[in-house]
Amino acid sequence: MPPSATLPPGPNLFATFDFVRNPFRFLDECARRYGDWFTVRVPGVSPFVFTSDPAAVREVFLGDPDTLHAGDANRPLGAFMGEKSSLFLDGAEHLSQRRLLLPAFHGERMSAYADTMRTAAANAIPSWPLGQRFPIHPQMRAITFETIIRAVFGFQNDAAGAELRALMKQLFDLYSSRLGTLFSLPAMQIDAGRWSPWGRAVRLTRQIDSILYAEFARRRKEGVEGRADILSMLLAARYEDGQPLPDAVIRDEMYTLMLAGHETTAATMAWVINRMLTNPNVMERARAEVLSVLGDQQLDSSHVGKLKFVEAVINETMRLDPVVPNIGRGLTKPMTIAGRQLPAGVTIAPCIYLIHRRRELWPNPDQFSPDRFLETRPSPYTFLPFGGGPRRCLGAAFASYQMKIVIVEILSRVDLKPAEGYTAHATRRGIAFAPSEGMPAIAKPISARE
Ligand code: HEM
Repeated sequence: MPPSATLPPGPNLFATFDFVRNPFRFLDECARRYGDWFTVRVPGVSPFVFTSDPAAVREVFLGDPDTLHAGDANRPLGAFMGEKSSLFLDGAEHLSQRRLLLPAFHGERMSAYADTMRTAAANAIPSWPLGQRFPIHPQMRAITFETIIRAVFGFQNDAAGAELRALMKQLFDLYSSRLGTLFSLPAMQIDAGRWSPWGRAVRLTRQIDSILYAEFARRRKEGVEGRADILSMLLAARYEDGQPLPDAVIRDEMYTLMLAGHETTAATMAWVINRMLTNPNVMERARAEVLSVLGDQQLDSSHVGKLKFVEAVINETMRLDPVVPNIGRGLTKPMTIAGRQLPAGVTIAPCIYLIHRRRELWPNPDQFSPDRFLETRPSPYTFLPFGGGPRRCLGAAFASYQMKIVIVEILSRVDLKPAEGYTAHATRRGIAFAPSEGMPAIAKPISARE
């Protein structure tokens, strides 16, 4: 471990607890006290050197992936995903696996998922309680969960699909609970029987694995021609030497896509709704755009690219409320980043949240103003809700596409009002930071608008 004297100063352990309780407040306070660079230490984990310097971000994104290991930095995220999860791999192995996943997530493929995404939202929204306070965030999780089950796993409503849904839901509810937050600590990864949290996770993954492996075998036998889901694409994919992906690798990637894909997108949509509720003029402009793009038609893929203002609202929300507030790269060698020497063994952590609030990059940074995204296109080193470089989020196009579709369905089906007395702050849900208390709101039928 490097001598701590070489690292920038930072908060003590007591102050660092706030990162779990109120992460955005914690980061604001660190920036105020220490400036663009600070070190966060957690016992048993290598020090995190946070930076909000865009020059550092650029060097990290363009740097040598063999020196900047994202896999090492991501490892605490969830051991049950398995060693071959693309989140945890580095070097050549990461690159070759990512290459096989990329085609399934290419922007041009998204129209194949439009109907699944729309149906998941259209089926869920009519069940929302009307006229009373209810939490929106769990509803967003249900929609993104169902979308991943159908578009990524390709499961329908048959017996295997129903069982997989039930088990996956239990696993990810556990992971996203307060106890699950502690799963990132190796000391918590002890199987003390089925009543211990980790023991429960282990048993659930065994049950899920047996459904998945049976499904892989079935699809390999019957063939996957004509199927558009991502699991089927992976079953058909071949490495450069012509070999198929082993089942164990596909299994790890399926858990990864569920973990990386559903909490993040759901939390972001909850923040988008929160921002629209606190800026009713923005909500009205977004609804007007939806009405003018759709006319009296049902939404389909031809409409999605025309929703420029809705897209700007989502981007502006991701600027101010990034659900992944920082990324990490573990240094395998000493490295000088933006003129600062850092020793091997530390994790350099570009801070998305603080970069998105820099005054010289974003005039009136605290003001919610979607128009700024209509006027200019920010650089990948100043707007990075999906990270960047060779590790940029694989599901960025998928998430952006889905968020537009779900927001359209909400705006065209219900009128949302703020819940009295509610002010959101960020709270950790699995790998994402979501608005507190499940983001309560009140839904009214569109026709009941004053
Ligand atoms: C609004 C929603 C989402 C946000 C904000 C988000 C954010 C991120 C971030 C910040 C990273 C780390 C990037 C880096 O280290 O530079 C990441 C990685 C990743 N994300 Fe997402 N994500 C979202 C949705 C999704 C979806 C829908 C999927 C797939 C269905 C997905 C799959 C992945 C994968 C596989 C990685 C690892 C990429 C790699 O290491 O090569 N994400 N995401």
